[in-house]
Amino acid sequence: MSFVAVSNIAKRYGDAPILERLSLDVEKGEFVTIVGASGCGKSTFLRLLLGQERADRGTIAIEGAPIAPEPGPDRGVVFQKYSVFPHLTVIDNLVLPAEIEASPFFGRLFGGRRRKAREEAEALMEKIGLSHAARRYPAQLSGGMQQRLAIAQALLRKPRILLLDEPFGALDPGTRQDMHVLIEDIWRETAMTIFMVTHDIKEAFKLGTRLLVFDKIRHDPQFPAAYGATVTYDLPLHRKAANAAGEGTGPSPHETADLEATLSMPASPRRERAAPAIGQ
Ligand SMILES: Nc1ncnc2c1ncn2[C@@H]1O[C@H](COP(=O)(O)OP(=O)(O)O)[C@@H](O)[C@H]1O
Ligand SMILES: [Mg+2]
Repeated sequence: MSFVAVSNIAKRYGDAPILERLSLDVEKGEFVTIVGASGCGKSTFLRLLLGQERADRGTIAIEGAPIAPEPGPDRGVVFQKYSVFPHLTVIDNLVLPAEIEASPFFGRLFGGRRRKAREEAEALMEKIGLSHAARRYPAQLSGGMQQRLAIAQALLRKPRILLLDEPFGALDPGTRQDMHVLIEDIWRETAMTIFMVTHDIKEAFKLGTRLLVFDKIRHDPQFPAAYGATVTYDLPLHRKAANAAGEGTGPSPHETADLEATLSMPASPRRERAAPAIGQ
C-alpha cells in the first residue's frame, strides 16, 4: 500500500474536463515536483490532495484511508502569495491559528497552553530565520520573508504532507536559492512527503526525488478545453535519491531542453498515438 494513492481521478469545472484518468502512487518521504503548462490543472490537483475540492470520480487515499473531504492538520499548504494574515504580526500569524484551533470560542489560550503555543512559534521562527522580525507585519517583510512565514504557518501543525503551489515563483533568484536550502533542510529533518508545483524546470530537477509532467494526452485544436490533463511523464530522479545527503546534482542541459520543449508544446502526435484511449 502506498502512502498516497491516487486512483483514476477525474475533475471537471462545469463542462470543462480539467483532469482525467490520473493515477499516482507516492511513497512516504518522496519530494514530488510537478510541472506543466499554465492552466492544465496543477493547482486543481493540489486542491484535491488538500481536500479543498472533490474529484468527480476516482479516489485519493492516504495510508489506505480515503482523504478527508476538507483540509486537515495532516496536510499543510503554501501558495505563491497572500497566504499570511496581513493584519497580524509574524508571531501572531503563528500563534493565533493555534489559539483559534484549540479554543474556537475564546480565540485564545491561557496559562501553560498559551506559553506552549508561543514557544512552538518561537522555535519555528528560529528554524525558519524570522526571529528578528517577530513583531513586524507582513507588509514590512520582503517577499522571501513572507514566504518563510507562510512555510512556518504550514509547518505549525506538523503535517505529514506539504503542498507547495509555486511558492517561490515571485521571488528573485538569490532569495529562491535560500528558499531551496530551507525547504531541503525541512524536508530532510521532518521526512515529510512534499508535492511542489513549479514553473521552473531546473528547480523541479534540483529539489525533487521524482518529477511529474502534467499535460493533455489528447488535444483538439478546435476545442482546446475538450480534454483534461493527466500525468504524461513520471521521472524518478535517481541521482538525487542516491545522493540524498548531499546537493541535488541538477539536470543535464539536454534533459532540461527536452522537458522545456515538451511543456511549450501541445500534446505531440507521437504521444497521442501512444496514449491509451480515454473517456468511455
Ligand atoms: N473554481 C474554479 N471554477 C471553474 N474553473 C476553474 C476553477 N479553478 C480553476 N479553474 C480552471 O481550471 C483550469 C485549471 O486551473 P489550475 O488548476 O489553476 O491550473 P494550473 O495550476 O495548472 O495553472 C483552468 O482553466 C482554470 O481556469
Ligand atoms: Mg496553478
